[in-house]
Amino acid sequence: MPSLTVDQVTKRYRNGKEALSGVSFVVEPGTLLAVVGHNGAGKSTLLNIISGLIRPSSGAVRTDIGRGRVMWAPQRTMVDWSLTVRQNIELVARLTGTPASRVDLMLQLLDLEKIQGQQAEYISGGQLQRVQIGRALVAEAAVYVLDEPTAGLDPAAGELVMNHLRDRAAGGSTVLVSSHDLDAVERTASDLVLLDAGRLQAHLPIQEFIRRAGATMKVNVTLGARMTVSQAAALADGLPPDWSLETEPDLTGLSVRAPLATGLRPVLAWLPPDLAVQDLSAEKQSLRDVYLARYAERTPVPESVTVQQ
Ligand SMILES: Nc1ncnc2c1ncn2[C@@H]1O[C@H](COP(=O)(O)OP(=O)(O)OP(=O)(O)O)[C@@H](O)[C@H]1O
Ligand SMILES: [Mg+2]
Repeated sequence: MPSLTVDQVTKRYRNGKEALSGVSFVVEPGTLLAVVGHNGAGKSTLLNIISGLIRPSSGAVRTDIGRGRVMWAPQRTMVDWSLTVRQNIELVARLTGTPASRVDLMLQLLDLEKIQGQQAEYISGGQLQRVQIGRALVAEAAVYVLDEPTAGLDPAAGELVMNHLRDRAAGGSTVLVSSHDLDAVERTASDLVLLDAGRLQAHLPIQEFIRRAGATMKVNVTLGARMTVSQAAALADGLPPDWSLETEPDLTGLSVRAPLATGLRPVLAWLPPDLAVQDLSAEKQSLRDVYLARYAERTPVPESVTVQQ
């Protein structure tokens, strides 16, 4: 299976707007790559170039497969309005030499069976989005490119589509998907490309990105018996430099915040054995947490520009 190479891609639209500036990365088969970034960051421009819908001003996208095997769903709805739901998906199946049985599978997967005879013009926005996804996924392809496929879908449908994309990637395809649903991205995608004002900020496996972005975890400890004042003082004295500690005013509990990369075990080992620990819970910062924190502080992700796997 081929890899997909985005090589120094720059896009300047006719009005002079530079939507992408020298973006380069390589995606290996079997990857579900999430393209994330603010509105206007350049995600659609990038995905449209990869799909072959628009041309880059300079640079290139290379893959050793023919264009016919890249299946895509753009952000703006593109369906045949006069055709029925079924005919819309069937049309793509015919054009790609895909067996009709896969049309049925798509209708079933996307819960479109009941409305398969309705004309696209008269169905709901979320149903239209499902039709568009059905058109993108009906054929077997080496590369799938979907621009915000879960926008407008109900939560169950969004989950189903993301899980299905993950399965396609697990089957060996390369799947690129843009999304603002960072929780879904964290659950399903393997890697992330972060764009900011047309520039590549990071290309990393998701968990690696979260760690490098400075994610922390908070371990909450409830005590069965109050600590003594000297126990609390000893805890504060022995705190590693990049950790922070809060103790309950009545000394019945504490919480420790440490870098996510530290891992839970060292934090548990750090708790003195004479503390009467009754309950423990750990809260890890999510992709969404670190994304929001990063933009709130406007800080770059350290040392993470285009790191290959
Ligand atoms: N056809 C066009 N002509 C001129 N400028 C454009 C065109 N399409 C997009 N742009 C501009 O290029 C930049 C990137 O747009 P793009 O649609 O790629 O962003 P995006 O990351 O997909 O945003 P969103 O999250 O809103 O979908 C924006 O500043 C946008 O205004
Ligand atoms: Mg977009």
